Amino acid sequence: MDFYEVIRTRRSVRSYKPDPIPDEVLMRVLDAARIAPSGSNRQPWRFIIVKDEGLKKRLAEACSGQHFIAEAPVIIVACGRNIHYNRGGYMGDMSMLVDVSIAFTHLILAARAEGLGTCWIGSFDNEEVKRILNIPEDVNVVAITPLGYPKREDAFREPGSRKPLEEITSTDRF
Ligand SMILES: Cc1cc2nc3c(=O)[nH]c(=O)nc-3n(C[C@H](O)[C@H](O)[C@H](O)COP(=O)(O)O)c2cc1C
Repeated sequence: MDFYEVIRTRRSVRSYKPDPIPDEVLMRVLDAARIAPSGSNRQPWRFIIVKDEGLKKRLAEACSGQHFIAEAPVIIVACGRNIHYNRGGYMGDMSMLVDVSIAFTHLILAARAEGLGTCWIGSFDNEEVKRILNIPEDVNVVAITPLGYPKREDAFREPGSRKPLEEITSTDRF
């Protein structure tokens, strides 16, 4: 699939078929995250693949009760280790947010190319998700997504409202 078609038709998917994801497809999607760039190639990430029904339900609850998350056959929880890099001078221990977000974007776009839906979930209780999945103290949850085949026929469509290019770009000065 053409790269620009992938990025134009990726949408947040909030209802899923229960159909399982073939292992080779899941591995390709995870591999897209694995090969992402990171500062000094530190790769501070860990992707937890959650398939257990009980754990999925608890995770959905820890994501502000967004129950559609547990409909998908798989939930991916992206975590990052808090290591101090001198990035931008102000990000400190949270510099890993940039790296993990890049890798997660790779994953989400690869999923779209495979016909799989995702929905970047930023509303979650970090401490509760850490408890549910035995995530160590010095690691934090960065993002979560359900992963599965969309229920809606029109799940992959052109974007809705976006700011025009003139509003979000400028040349030479802010
Ligand atoms: C950092 C981040 C956090 C988000 N958190 C949630 C969330 O908790 N629940 C949800 O349903 N969608 C969430 N979204 C999805 C956005 O609402 C969605 O990307 C945006 O409305 C644009 O729609 P589109 O993804 O279909 O293009 C999040 C997206 C991002 C990038």
